[in-house]
Amino acid sequence: MYLKFFVLACISSHSVLDVYAGDCSTRCEWLEWKSWTTCSQTCGTTEKKSTSRSLCCPSDLTDLELCVDYCSLDIADHYDEADCGRECYNGGTLSSAGCVCTSRFYGMCCEDRLDICEAIPTDVVFILDSSLSQTQTEFQKQLDFVGKFVDNVDVGPTAFVLSIITYSSTAVVEIEFDDSNSKQSIKDQLMGVQFRPGVTNTNKGLDLARSLLSVRMERRPGMYTKKIAFVLTDGLSNDRTKTEASAKLLKGEAHVVAIGVGPEVSHTELVAIASPADDYSLSYVYTVESFDALYTVLERLIDVSCEKCQPKSLTDIFLLVDDLPDSRMTVTEWQIAVNGLATIVDGLQAFNDENGQRVGIAQFPDTNDPIKQLSLSNTLRKDDILHFLQVMAPSEDTCRGTKDDCVLKSNITSIIQDVIDNQFTSSFGGRDDARKVLLVVSSGRFSNITEVAEQMLNIRLHTDVDIFDIGPGGDVDMRGLKSLVSEPSRVFVVKEDSDMASLDGLRAKFSYIACG
Ligand SMILES: *[C@@H]1O[C@H](CO)[C@@H](O)[C@H](O)[C@H]1NC(C)=O
Ligand SMILES: *[C@@H]1O[C@H](CO)[C@@H](O)[C@H](O)[C@H]1NC(C)=O
Repeated sequence: MYLKFFVLACISSHSVLDVYAGDCSTRCEWLEWKSWTTCSQTCGTTEKKSTSRSLCCPSDLTDLELCVDYCSLDIADHYDEADCGRECYNGGTLSSAGCVCTSRFYGMCCEDRLDICEAIPTDVVFILDSSLSQTQTEFQKQLDFVGKFVDNVDVGPTAFVLSIITYSSTAVVEIEFDDSNSKQSIKDQLMGVQFRPGVTNTNKGLDLARSLLSVRMERRPGMYTKKIAFVLTDGLSNDRTKTEASAKLLKGEAHVVAIGVGPEVSHTELVAIASPADDYSLSYVYTVESFDALYTVLERLIDVSCEKCQPKSLTDIFLLVDDLPDSRMTVTEWQIAVNGLATIVDGLQAFNDENGQRVGIAQFPDTNDPIKQLSLSNTLRKDDILHFLQVMAPSEDTCRGTKDDCVLKSNITSIIQDVIDNQFTSSFGGRDDARKVLLVVSSGRFSNITEVAEQMLNIRLHTDVDIFDIGPGGDVDMRGLKSLVSEPSRVFVVKEDSDMASLDGLRAKFSYIACG
């Protein structure tokens, strides 16, 4: 109850001493609590409010402690303290620095929420390879990648803020983090970024990126700015141990996406640099010409409930095993190849789902008829596909017909053309709206690589099928493998059975993000 009588009596007397020696009706009685001290903010700190009350004492006892003793009371009852009653809303937690909000919420008390389709403010650093292992053209592709990224996102303090580093013998900040940069100013600065060839000290680029990111401030109270680092590299650094150590530290600070670029790409190092697979992607290793990296990053930053950006896995994958006499694989290579394909099929998370992946397989010998084939319309379960792969065997060159029958009727390019023309059509189970991927497994040891390259260039010009290849073992012909695909980063060399992680970058291709 509110004891008006005591309050009035106390306010009019001592304000310093919490002892009331005046005219109390009952000695040794606590008077009414004073009002709470005011809290300075509505939430977001661990500030406390306090109150105290006076004690009615005999007039000769002007010291609170003495009076408390005299009255046999507890001095602790004279003072009270409480949290300011503050809370962080929407699941935020209170720390000494204020509210730490959950994803998408921000503000002093986490009371504000980003739009579901708005990306969380993000600092992005691009780490570009300017070493001698890149040509001027490859370097330009890296700048184009940054340009494409800028074209497709919002730039500014509430969205993406970008910085660019190049590395070769040393690392250089080409564009600083600057909240006032616009799309246009970034693109203008991008034009001035120089190719500075030197050795490939990837670790220096990674270290510089980490220090740039670590000093950045949060841009909205309570909201942790997301940090993403794109590392563009061929995976052939001068000191892989140092590169991996620096990558590990950078991954503590940011989400790291590795993009293969250059005349030859080692996916093993790319996989070691990139952040591990998670709910958003099977892998964070990409090729430079595709938008996959951008979309996957957006998926990480946009609310999962936003219909504009939904993960999809609608992909038709055709696996083509080159068993032509010209480029026939050795037994060891065959084994690695089959295990590689099994690893890929095994990793398909939406296999045979309506919006998931379908797989077709063909092995081509020296006639126009594949000896073993599964079309995309097959309804085998994943285990049966794996079994199918395991029982596939190299053909044995037993042409017993006339000389004419045994003449080579097909070659690698005519087979690829045939697969593209037929296997992805609806009559073979291809789906119109699916992403189409052709994965060729080959030694690349074609007899006239120049001719293959010329014909493949023409084939690629006229198709929307994405072509990748896998080279099994250490004796593959890189020139031959590169002749089939548009970019060296699309060649995946698996040195041995224990090297399957290098295929992670391929798996990312099969589960992708589409932003509407
Ligand atoms: C390979 O093909 C190219 C172009 O088709 C041709 O000019 C060249 O003579 C061929 N080389 C051999 C060794 O047959
Ligand atoms: C493959 O065969 C086609 C016709 O069957 C021919 O036009 C083409 O030149 C051949 N390509 C190679 C690389 O041998």
